[in-house]
Amino acid sequence: WVRMVTAQTPTNIAVIKYWGKRDETLILPVNDSISVTLDPAHLCTTTTVAVSPSFDQDRMWLNGKEISLSGGRYQNCLREIRARACEVEDKEKGIKIAKKDWEKLHLHVASYNNFPTAAGLASSAAGFACLVFALAKLMNAKEDNSELSAIARQGSGSACRSLFGGFVKWIMGKAEDGSDSLAVQLVDEKHWDELVIIIAVVSSRQKETSSTTGMRDSVETSLLLQHRAKEVVPKRIKQMEEAIKNRDFGSFAQLTCADSNQFHAVCLDTSPPIFYMNDTSHRIISCVEKWNCSAGTPQVAYTFDAGPNAVLIAHNRKAATQLMQKLLFCFPPSSDADLNSYVIGDNSI
Ligand code: DP6
Repeated sequence: WVRMVTAQTPTNIAVIKYWGKRDETLILPVNDSISVTLDPAHLCTTTTVAVSPSFDQDRMWLNGKEISLSGGRYQNCLREIRARACEVEDKEKGIKIAKKDWEKLHLHVASYNNFPTAAGLASSAAGFACLVFALAKLMNAKEDNSELSAIARQGSGSACRSLFGGFVKWIMGKAEDGSDSLAVQLVDEKHWDELVIIIAVVSSRQKETSSTTGMRDSVETSLLLQHRAKEVVPKRIKQMEEAIKNRDFGSFAQLTCADSNQFHAVCLDTSPPIFYMNDTSHRIISCVEKWNCSAGTPQVAYTFDAGPNAVLIAHNRKAATQLMQKLLFCFPPSSDADLNSYVIGDNSI
């Protein structure tokens, strides 16, 4: 027999960034972060996990290619979920798996991303969240999504925020064992559903410096990172929670853009400096800043992760349409700029 579970998890985009770990093995951050989860119809990972007595080892395929599961991050997630596995009984299929059997049984995992892997579009976030969620269902683990988020966190920090829709906060926690470093939902996806998220894919090439290496270098060398984690982010988190609660787009946009810019300033303050944005990214920032300034009140927020692609959050559908027109004007399809735009629909969080 084979028992299978399939899950689908969207990626999330941080509006207050996670950058820097205080514990690299447990993946514990130096500050809280806040993200918005995309609609599952776009930028998501689909993962099928299977168990069978005929499997002789744990194996995993990513986008159809077999990858090694020996890495510490996969092993940590598998170990944590196995420790929480419960009895499973499927009378129809004649399957009964006792709690103690999970230790001996092997797993096969097949995962697909519907967007470029490792191009700064947070593929690891959706990937580990989906893996942990699917395994928990397969093994009948009873943990709620916050408890599962603390396991997904050990796969990739940002993954812990993809266990929920809407706006999500990753609480950094204080405990040394990481038990209180987990995600909570601030508001669900219906709370602020007029927002439209547009991702301008500036480049789908793999990034040169991974987030993991980049943030390690920043923690070791950037004084700005220390100041950001202690002085700036705690205040911003409170202000961002208020802005989200009140659907105050002006404050939301100001905080989102400022936080993205400070994260990239930390990257520049790192030795050797890290450049995630390119000229096209900078032109997108100028275009949005000019428009927001001339409109009198912000229409669009921008944020960039560890890559050059822009995530643009428009106030509403009208602003999103105008934004698309401006982007097409600044980056006509025939221009040299390597810009393709993904429009993520009008109900995109
Ligand atoms: C810039 O979660 O990819 O996207 O924990 O080492 O796997 P690891 O890093 P990762 O870092 C994401 C960094 C970011 C900001 C964010 O998503 O908060």
